[in-house]
Amino acid sequence: MYSRIVGTGRYLPEKILTNAELETMVETTSEWILSRTGIERRHIAADHESTSTMATEAARKAMEAAGVGPDEIDFVIVGTTTPDRIFPNVGCLVANALGLGEAPAMSVEAACSGFIYALSIADKYIRCGEAKCALVIGAETLSRIVDWEDRQTCVLFGDGAGAVILKASDEEGVISTHLNANGAYKDLLYSTGGVSCPRDSDELGEARIKMRGNEVFKVAVTKLGEIVQQTLAANNLEKSDIDWLIPHQANNRIITATAKKLGMPMDRVILTVQDHGNTSAASVPLALDVAVRSGKLKHGDLLLLEAFGGGFTWGSALIRY
Ligand code: UT7
Repeated sequence: MYSRIVGTGRYLPEKILTNAELETMVETTSEWILSRTGIERRHIAADHESTSTMATEAARKAMEAAGVGPDEIDFVIVGTTTPDRIFPNVGCLVANALGLGEAPAMSVEAACSGFIYALSIADKYIRCGEAKCALVIGAETLSRIVDWEDRQTCVLFGDGAGAVILKASDEEGVISTHLNANGAYKDLLYSTGGVSCPRDSDELGEARIKMRGNEVFKVAVTKLGEIVQQTLAANNLEKSDIDWLIPHQANNRIITATAKKLGMPMDRVILTVQDHGNTSAASVPLALDVAVRSGKLKHGDLLLLEAFGGGFTWGSALIRY
């Protein structure tokens, strides 16, 4: 028994924030942002939008693409690090908005790896027969936790949501998933404003992203290199067997380094960082949907998805499309 991706969808807020506009907000240049990250623009949620409303729209499109109705979905999981509220979880809010009935619904917080974590969990529920049709989402409203005065982080992030429908199938689909985490790196990338952090902590107050970018960069390149090798080895595959790399979109230079380790030409890598910036857990399903709807992916293609984020968490998924 496999789980197979049978539909994808995405939602991006209407408002676009360009590098040129950021030049008027902090001391930066379009040239610096583009050359250091590859980012040209990012989408920013409107006041009336939230992680659950964007996730709901992405899910609607994935359900439409899959031809799946609300009654069929029996498992809902959302990777997010910017939930609307502490609770109810975003899965419950999405399920309610879509009229999904009483299927289990949850969210998983693994920062930028949130979608890969969610996909891995949903795949296991399907493989063991507990679920037949899962809605798996990555969605973020990072603009609400960005420090808009910090040029080191505010130029990087964007908002959006991506979703997939996973169905039980005899045909090969998700082949394997690989997850890792190491909390020893917790101080390199985190958010302030914790709910239960100690009352005498200097992390109280509003939630704001803090990142030591250069240090994160180095670990990301190393760990992503390791996990793609681990994924190939676990499946007795050669680098050349992979048809498409669908990476987390944080930085063009990190993506290029991973592609190089895989010996993959960049025209076999799905690149959306220029249009979306870093959308954390939404990044991989957004890129996947762009790839699907552009007609690039063919039935039977072998896809390697990977992500790295705060925690640190990192992971990969090998998928027969
Ligand atoms: O998605 C989760 C995981 N996150 C990541 O993977 C992000 C990983 N890190 C990165 O992508 C990169 O480290 C950044 C894009 C964040 C930064 O690029 P970098 O090449 O590592 O730059 P840096 O932090 O070493 O800074 C280089 C210089 C510094 O100036 P000095 O000290 O050399 O004078 C910074 O102050 O660039 C300066 N700088 C900026 N200059 C103009 C930092 N931010 C900006 C900015 N505009 N926005």
